[in-house]
Amino acid sequence: MKDAFLSLQKEATDTFKNIKETDNRAREAWRSLYVGRKGKVALLMKQLAGLSVEEKKEIGPIANAIKQELMQLFKTHDARGANARIDMSLPGRIPERGHEHPLYQVMDQVISVFLGMGFDVVEGPEIELGYYNFSALNIPKDHPARDMWDTFYVRHGKEEESVVLRTHTSPVQIRAMEHRTPPVRLIVPGRVFRHEATDATHGSNFFQLEGLVIDKGIRVTDLMGCLSAAMKGLYGKDTTIRLRPSYFPFVEPGFEVDISCMMCGGSTQPPYQGGGRRDGGCSVCKRTGWVEMLGAGMVHPVVLKNMKVDSRKYSGFAFGMGIDRMMMLAYGIPDIRLGYSGDVEFVRQF
Ligand code: PHE
Repeated sequence: MKDAFLSLQKEATDTFKNIKETDNRAREAWRSLYVGRKGKVALLMKQLAGLSVEEKKEIGPIANAIKQELMQLFKTHDARGANARIDMSLPGRIPERGHEHPLYQVMDQVISVFLGMGFDVVEGPEIELGYYNFSALNIPKDHPARDMWDTFYVRHGKEEESVVLRTHTSPVQIRAMEHRTPPVRLIVPGRVFRHEATDATHGSNFFQLEGLVIDKGIRVTDLMGCLSAAMKGLYGKDTTIRLRPSYFPFVEPGFEVDISCMMCGGSTQPPYQGGGRRDGGCSVCKRTGWVEMLGAGMVHPVVLKNMKVDSRKYSGFAFGMGIDRMMMLAYGIPDIRLGYSGDVEFVRQF
């Protein structure tokens, strides 16, 4: 066994000597043949397993030393070889320029529309206290949104001690109001997390943009006017919105806000010829003419109280939208996960 190692050592060193320093291919072949993962040295070392303890003690270190020596041989010559290979006449390598991610492009568009309407941009932590993510937002203890299965708990324990990856950007409503007094107009862009079985339209990590307006005499019509103007700014002046009643514990009343389909302009008649599927009508709005866009509502009095805002003097509205969804609609991207694939080829298309 020992002899086998010694003769392998000699064989490997001799062959290495015969390889030209500039012949990278031969050198690589040598590396893989002798010291590669399935190379001759590795194969021989496997046989050590069948030896007695004493023999292992004797031959093991020798085998290791030989392996090290051979690897070293390759490495030192590799460095020298590499230097020898520098060709000063070659053109330089141009560093790759980055490309803005489509998610951020959409995010920037939305932000600029709201900046134009006098909103400030605020950010908050992605790892959030249960208090801000749930309790301060009037989300009751038994609400399904708090479920272990919907939420990534960093620390799951008593109410005051729980720490979560935020499930929405709404906690920043509360945080922002700790340092502000009304009137306020805020938007909060940011990353949020949910324990989802991911598919083409659900990710465990996605982006939202939250909005909060508090002032004297704010009414539902202000919410409608504001969101209508914003959606016209984003999708064109013919865009209209509609409100459907919905429930979020931190607003009252609460709404889902739809916009007229940006693809077919709200045509519900098949066959629609302008985009999407040609046979069964528009695939973006599924021939309903409307696309679900936001959650919204009037800030709940309990939430105002948690913000230390006097609900007899002030009222407000809040809204939240999913940026990934907007990106998918804007660019016709069929799968939400593509945005997180880390694939430059994907990103460069937009
Ligand atoms: N936070 C809600 C969600 O993630 C969206 C929302 C924000 C609804 C503000 C109403 C008001 O689904």
